[in-house]
Amino acid sequence: MTVGINAPGRARVPVRNLRTDRWWLPPLLTNLGLATFVIYATGRSFMGKWYWVNDYHYLTPFYSPCISESCVAGSSHFGQWIGELPGWIPMGFLALPFLLGFRLTCYYYRKAYYRSVWQSPLACAVAEPRVEYSGETKFPLILQNLHRYFFYVAGLVALVNTYDAIVAFHSPDGGFGMGLGNVILLINVVMLWAYTLSCHSCRHIAGGRLKHFSAHPIRYKLWTVVSKLNVRHMQLAWITLGTLMLTDLYVMLVASGAISDLRFV
Ligand code: FES
Repeated sequence: MTVGINAPGRARVPVRNLRTDRWWLPPLLTNLGLATFVIYATGRSFMGKWYWVNDYHYLTPFYSPCISESCVAGSSHFGQWIGELPGWIPMGFLALPFLLGFRLTCYYYRKAYYRSVWQSPLACAVAEPRVEYSGETKFPLILQNLHRYFFYVAGLVALVNTYDAIVAFHSPDGGFGMGLGNVILLINVVMLWAYTLSCHSCRHIAGGRLKHFSAHPIRYKLWTVVSKLNVRHMQLAWITLGTLMLTDLYVMLVASGAISDLRFV
């Protein structure tokens, strides 16, 4: 049986859509933004160098936690639990799959890549290329339900990144030191927390399944705070892609000797 826009009873429209605005622009920009991040992050994750600045203890988030004997001395804040890694395994392999899973299943990113990469649905009043729309009821999209579990792991990774940002207040002579790198690492970690806590699953954990907010004042307060962040979730999703790349780029440039860190203390 013919389904979708060609199903019996549907109006026959001789063109793909009747929209005259530039409806294709947002999907195109989304594709470009996501592709930039994916290409950059993949390249950097497999590069295997310039991820640690020993003088100032800057560690890029793409390699954290660094838990193998392949990691350079000092960069393993949580110890080296396993031996050398072959070059095809990124040194941040412990966190990267979960972070990828967290972002891929994020409610905002779903909207973004459904309307761009996946093209289902593409835009209002624009027929999608697939004959049938099954939403998230079938494999692989049914896996989106794992998002709440990725949220817990992302929270742990944010804690790890916070620790990395704190130990980076280090001077080459030992003791406290501070430079532009610290400011960048700190902004990155604050934005990561804002993005993680603004998650829809977090909002549900804070205040979901309650019949009476009045009987749960603490959860109500938490839900109120998370809700305020939640309305900015889309912006935070894009901002954190930018801060992650910027933080990594800065660490790479300092670690490779291309630039010197601007020191304040
Ligand atoms: Fe976006 Fe959870 S909904 S991170």
